Formats: sequence, structure tokens, C-alpha cells
Amino acid sequence: AGRRTLTIIKPDAFGAGNAGNIVALLEKQGFAVKAARVMHMTTAQAGAFYEVHAARPFYGELVEFMTSGPCMPLILEKDDAVASLRTAIGATDPAEAAEGTVRKLYAESKGKNAIHASDSDENAAREARFFFAEADVIA
Ligand code: CMP
Repeated sequence: AGRRTLTIIKPDAFGAGNAGNIVALLEKQGFAVKAARVMHMTTAQAGAFYEVHAARPFYGELVEFMTSGPCMPLILEKDDAVASLRTAIGATDPAEAAEGTVRKLYAESKGKNAIHASDSDENAAREARFFFAEADVIA
């Protein structure tokens, strides 16, 4: 499995001032930050990022939420990065998220769920390219 994954601290968590807490929690679990930025996504950007969900009933709501305020995409590195990060963030629905996970601590709902994590190595690479140029990523 690959050593890198892509995460986004979503507008709910970023707006609440929890970005630092979330990065600290992930660093404590052994993730290293390889790239980071803050941005306010346009509708076109959010729509393209979540293209795979375009047919889902929540797509419009998802794009609206992701453009509702600034967010913070990061590339994180750790052994087995994709699976490790998905464990660290917890279930999509915070009501089902395990104790100590990012979503248990910081998410409000299935939609406003604080953080995104890539679901495969292929998507991690695609999503990293979506937000970062090669030169933005440290060795
Ligand atoms: P994320 O991991 O960023 O990728 C897909 C997103 O769709 C997911 O997080 C949720 O925020 C969102 N999502 C999934 N299910 C629902 C739902 N039932 N209602 C609203 N948003 C959802």
C-alpha cells in the first residue's frame, strides 16, 4: 500500500477553529504533513473534486457545504496511509464513529463531517494532483 493520502479539513471544522487540533491529533498518530494549503473552493472546484458522487442525492448539498467557507487540503504520509487515515477519521456518520476519531471529536453530521480522506491509493494520487503541484510537496 502507498505511503501518502490526501485529506481535507472541511469548512465546518476549519471555520470552528479546529484545524490545528486535527493536524495535532493526526501528527500524534504518526502522520507527517507533506503539503498543505488553505483555500475557499469555488463551485466548479468542489463539483469537479466530488465528480464521482455527481449522481448521488446529496451531491448538491455536498458541493454547497464544501464551498460554504475555507478548507484545508493536506497531503499526509504514513505507512499504509489510506487505510490508516480512514481509521483515524472514523465513520462518515459521527454517531457511528469510534471514540478518539476525528469525526467523533469534531463532526456534526453525515454531511458536516469535519474531514475528508481518500478511499484508495489511486484516488489519493488523483486528489493530491487536484490540489497540489509537484513543487508544493516536500520530500
Ligand atoms: P467524504 O469522505 O468527503 O466524501 C463524500 C462525502 O459525501 C462524505 O465525505 C460526506 O460528507 C458526504 N455524504 C455522504 N453521505 C451523505 C449524506 N447522506 N448526506 C450528506 N452528505 C453525505
